[in-house]
Amino acid sequence: MKLMNRHVPFFFIFSFLLLLASACRNENADSKLIHLESPGGQLGLDFFLDDSARASYLVCFDGDTLLEPSRLGFLFRDWPALSSGLVIESSEQHEADEKWEMPWGEQHWVRNHYRELAVKLREPGGEKRQFTLRFRLYDDGLGFRYEFPRHQGKDSVVILDELTEFRLAGNYRCWWQPGDWDIYEHLYHDTPFREIDALKYRHHPNLAQSYIPFNAVNTPVTMKTAGGLYLSFHEADLSDFPGMTLRVFPDELRMKSELVGSDRYAWKASRKLPFHTPWRTLQVARRPGELIESKLILNLNEAAKYEVPWFKPMKYVGIWWEMHLGKSSWDLASGRHGATTSKAMRYIDFAAAHHIGGVLVEGWNTGWEHWIGFDDREGVFDFVTPYPDYDLQKVASYAREKGVQLIMHHETSSAPRTYEAQMDTAYALMRQLGIHVVKTGYVGKIIPKGEYHHGQWMVRHYRKALRKAAEYEVAIDAHEPIKATGIRRTYPNFISREGLRGQEFNAWASDGGNPPEHLTIIPFTRMLAGPIDFTPGIFNLKLSPWKDKNQVNTTLAHQLALYVVIYSPVQMAADLIENYEGHPAFQFIEEVPTDWEESHVLQAEIGDYICMARKERNGKNWFLGAITDENGRTLKIPLSFLAPGVRYEAHIYRDGPDAHWDKNPASYRIERKDFVSGDTLTARLAPGGGIALSFFPLDR
Ligand code: NOJ
Ligand code: CA
Repeated sequence: MKLMNRHVPFFFIFSFLLLLASACRNENADSKLIHLESPGGQLGLDFFLDDSARASYLVCFDGDTLLEPSRLGFLFRDWPALSSGLVIESSEQHEADEKWEMPWGEQHWVRNHYRELAVKLREPGGEKRQFTLRFRLYDDGLGFRYEFPRHQGKDSVVILDELTEFRLAGNYRCWWQPGDWDIYEHLYHDTPFREIDALKYRHHPNLAQSYIPFNAVNTPVTMKTAGGLYLSFHEADLSDFPGMTLRVFPDELRMKSELVGSDRYAWKASRKLPFHTPWRTLQVARRPGELIESKLILNLNEAAKYEVPWFKPMKYVGIWWEMHLGKSSWDLASGRHGATTSKAMRYIDFAAAHHIGGVLVEGWNTGWEHWIGFDDREGVFDFVTPYPDYDLQKVASYAREKGVQLIMHHETSSAPRTYEAQMDTAYALMRQLGIHVVKTGYVGKIIPKGEYHHGQWMVRHYRKALRKAAEYEVAIDAHEPIKATGIRRTYPNFISREGLRGQEFNAWASDGGNPPEHLTIIPFTRMLAGPIDFTPGIFNLKLSPWKDKNQVNTTLAHQLALYVVIYSPVQMAADLIENYEGHPAFQFIEEVPTDWEESHVLQAEIGDYICMARKERNGKNWFLGAITDENGRTLKIPLSFLAPGVRYEAHIYRDGPDAHWDKNPASYRIERKDFVSGDTLTARLAPGGGIALSFFPLDR
């Protein structure tokens, strides 16, 4: 049944009837209550005003309460709070069901099917202010946002605090990382909600920037209820607003929005009226894989503002890992400069010979002598002047000749004003050279001092770079970024980001690097936000002879499986090309695509293992990747995703019988075998191991 634009009086009768059989039951019986259900009916939300006439909501799924009554509201500077003493002016519901096409992505088509409730609230006295709360319920989660209209005599508002609460109905198991205002490069912790203690991670040895002011978590934060449901809290369409961390009150089982602030001002955000906040989101799933398959975050973003036919998903190699290994350096003065003309040309030759679309070159431009650990970074980097041993024009024309895309690199060293002043010239140079992708970086504390990477000032900067880049047909892969919130739907040149503890930590972190379970958690946390430039594909896992004390804590087959498990339209083959030359396992990296028709999570348990299958965009080939944590395991995987009646030849890249992430990480086997969709694959994964398969239909 479609609920189209029903207005209050009728709707109240309707919702009251529904309430009798409803999944949600509001304890607050004498308040007025508006009930909304997702299209399939399993997810329910009650909106009501509590005893102090505060806007409140609760959420339930299949009859179980997930969120207890939780309050909403805002505190402003020089304007009364909008929290208590409200009345419901009107409310409307409608249902929408549409399909949209992803220009590139984990799948080709996305269904956007939801029921929406817009509640208009008003202050009866005082300034008689109004605002709207808009809720959208999907079968796999919900989003809601605040909408502030024009108000007579007021152009803009200054926000001191957001009062949005999420009161959990149980001591859920949580996969969380500290609510850092400057970086998302923390490991995830797996604890009951009551044991979250973010402040314990305040002093981290490996981070050039970090600021954890409260016991709070970054989003996405993922949970499992005692009843076996999986939840994840995040936000969608973060535009001109600070990022949201969730402050944790362990004993009360309560979280509250804690917006990232600025030390330059005693407030969190300032906005001109009218405006709306980002969506506050909650994903709900019966199996963990549904969290990944859900497109809720993208659906809550607006349709594309422009097209990017000039961007093509690709794999890339680069002059990069060698700096992290200490084999060479970004700067020239060290005498070990990595980015030279001849080396870049060798990388281009390798890419051209091995079906790799792009080559990244870091350390090509002047300024690196004054990069990390300096306070006066303003004006240091120059994004158009190469070092004398790097002939940018020659390298770019060689790449064009070979059909390889150069990937530009702009390390801003967190001096965004310096970057903004040069954006036009820097992107114009890229256009002149035919370069369509830039990797940006924001290492170090933000200048001006007092701003944080995730505050409103920087959210504006990242967006400015994105829009400016689009004018020059440039796509951005940002490191040390603001978190992904699905804006790639609206601005499809935001192709990927770091925003997690990436591969580089294995090269230099003093805490042992990423543990074997790291990437069995990432797909259910960070990856729910969007594409990840993790940079997989290290074959020389012990990093010898460069780093005696560091290593990659997975097997080689696990590294291969990451090309299927971790989604990004740009995927690096991160190792030195000399470690790939003549290596039989590199064949999988050559085979695996970076753009998909469909994606499925076949089996998974968060923090233990995950098995995914993806079908190539505009093709018939399938690819499968499975990884496990420090525990070996054998998975029986039905291959029912393969087209019925078709025989496939599979290339299997598996752990060797003696493989082990620490004792023998490079042990692998390659096999060939035919499969049909009725078959079951027996996949033995070593401790810290994995398996990767390419399936090619034989009767093509
Ligand atoms: C940090 C990035 O994550 C890394 O990939 C890059 O090499 C350095 N910054 C230098 O820009
Ligand atoms: Ca980084």
